[in-house]
Amino acid sequence: QKPADTNKAKVLKIGAEMTFPPFEFQEEGNKEYVGFDMDLAKAVAKQMGYTTEIQNIGFDGLIPALEAGNIDMIVSGMSITEERSKKIAFSKPYYKSGLSIVVKGDNNSITNFKDLEGKRIAVQIGTTGAEEARKIKDAKVREYNSNSEAYMELKAGGVDAVVNDLPVNEYYLTKSGEKNAKIVGDIMNAEEYGMAVTKKNTELVEKVNKAIDELKKNGEYEKIYVKWFGK
Ligand code: ARG
Repeated sequence: QKPADTNKAKVLKIGAEMTFPPFEFQEEGNKEYVGFDMDLAKAVAKQMGYTTEIQNIGFDGLIPALEAGNIDMIVSGMSITEERSKKIAFSKPYYKSGLSIVVKGDNNSITNFKDLEGKRIAVQIGTTGAEEARKIKDAKVREYNSNSEAYMELKAGGVDAVVNDLPVNEYYLTKSGEKNAKIVGDIMNAEEYGMAVTKKNTELVEKVNKAIDELKKNGEYEKIYVKWFGK
């Protein structure tokens, strides 16, 4: 027998790194955190009877924050990987993604992953993009705390390419008004995003999975998807 629900909803502390539009970011002049992940996280929490408190944490600090108990869940476009699954428990996948390359509009020497050999590449610290870039022969990989800095470095000519998740690169090209940049090559590394909790919290993973299923069934997931991706 479970205790009856009280009126006061419990708070679920959620961590994300906020330079990852359209998943989590801040719009100019608005200090609220918005995006696909933020809407989905709130919907999942609500479905489970929680309200949310969102914290902005560096991407490489998210897993430590979870382990330290400072947050209950990561919802940060975090790809489900074997390595991470050794430390934390992922929910079922909620978004299919993958990595891609952005170069300057007038760069014709980099057209695919192979061309990145020996090149200067900007990535966000702690990401799968950083990991993949480091595998490229003779590449000079520069790791930045935020994605904004990585794109700025490309614009400034400090690097030849940015390796980042495809939907975020697409957003950068279409929404930031950046004209002098383009995405090249095929998508590398098919990845899926999961919400993450501590390994001890098996009950929460199950609840989250149930909530995701529920939101897919009742059309809420679709609504949030269309709001941020339009299709
Ligand atoms: N999907 C990539 C990964 O898991 C990048 C995620 C970056 N997320 C963020 N909110 N900055 O490594």
